[in-house]
Amino acid sequence: MNNQTSSFIYFACQQGAEKTIKSSLCEPVGPYRLAYSQKGFVTLKSNLSTPAWSKALPTHPLVRSHGHVLGKFDGDVAEPLIDKILSEFGSLDWEHMHVWQRDIAIPGWNGFEPGRSALAAFLSEKFNEALQSRGDSRRASSEKQHPEDSRIIEIIIDEPNRWWVAAHMVSNREEGWPGGVYAVPIPEDMISRAYLKLAEAIAWSGIEVRAGDRVVEIGSSPGGACQYLLDLGAKVTGIDPAEMDPMVSDHPGFTHWRARSIQVKRKDFAPFRFLICDANVAPNYTLDTIEAIVTYPTSKMEGLILTMKLASWDQADRIPDHLERVRKWGFSKVEARQLAHNRKEYCLTALR
Ligand SMILES: C[S@@+](CC[C@H](N)C(=O)[O-])C[C@H]1O[C@@H](n2cnc3c(N)ncnc32)[C@H](O)[C@@H]1O
Repeated sequence: MNNQTSSFIYFACQQGAEKTIKSSLCEPVGPYRLAYSQKGFVTLKSNLSTPAWSKALPTHPLVRSHGHVLGKFDGDVAEPLIDKILSEFGSLDWEHMHVWQRDIAIPGWNGFEPGRSALAAFLSEKFNEALQSRGDSRRASSEKQHPEDSRIIEIIIDEPNRWWVAAHMVSNREEGWPGGVYAVPIPEDMISRAYLKLAEAIAWSGIEVRAGDRVVEIGSSPGGACQYLLDLGAKVTGIDPAEMDPMVSDHPGFTHWRARSIQVKRKDFAPFRFLICDANVAPNYTLDTIEAIVTYPTSKMEGLILTMKLASWDQADRIPDHLERVRKWGFSKVEARQLAHNRKEYCLTALR
């Protein structure tokens, strides 16, 4: 698919983030005009020509996934829709198909977690049956990850009877995940959703936490993130005035410093390789706290994973300032992304 098209691009995000994405990419700031929009799904148009497999798609830390829109399909019955889509796009040079559904709620609401749509899984199987019967060896999936440079065609379930078809070339890890969601397997005894957030943060950032690594978490109660770290075999210290879940506090690899971070001496952070912060405080308070720790002469902190709370969506405008501040502490790879499992917050990661 080497044809040039004028830009018609979709952006998927958490419900509520649409306005911030539109205002940062649309005229007069960016080259786009508003097109169709729904909760968690925004489409924008521009007259600029963009090759459909171009990796140069605009983005924003609140964007979970993006791609070139190829078409919209409405219909109440799946089989004829699938047939129509495969007739129209079967001859294109895509390699894999991702089938996913836009968020139907805020992550964590009533058990909802992004990327676990039964409808997407069902339709993905229907697409596979249709592909097989056409003798097409390519396959659809609602959960399979694909490596860099893969050419992906996407079936985006906007409503059960309204699907969008889009295309994107995978240019980084998260673009290889259907809908930009790293669907972490959820353990039955999960202590809190922070387990999912940290698993996704580690997968996205590429920060490698190995067995035996010393990791400290500020804002560790009740203990979902520590549970994930302990599962990885790390030696974990949690700092929080609140109680930890016994599954964590009774674990031999865990130490609880029952205090606020300000009460801990900065030299006590010397043994740790990674610092995680998930305290429910304002971004500037988080950055002041972490700066004092990592700029102290005895600090050997190699990596940071910080949950940055957003009191309002407008505060996302401050993300570039946050990243710049962390770079000044001597970290070279500093990135921001609203993870699929984040709520009104984003994840900032930094590596030396
Ligand atoms: C969202 S919860 C953390 C969830 C936790 N990471 C988990 O894995 O379950 C926020 C926690 O931050 C703690 N907190 C807030 N300010 C803090 C501070 N200055 N120092 C340490 N903990 C703090 C609160 O007590 C609360 O338990």
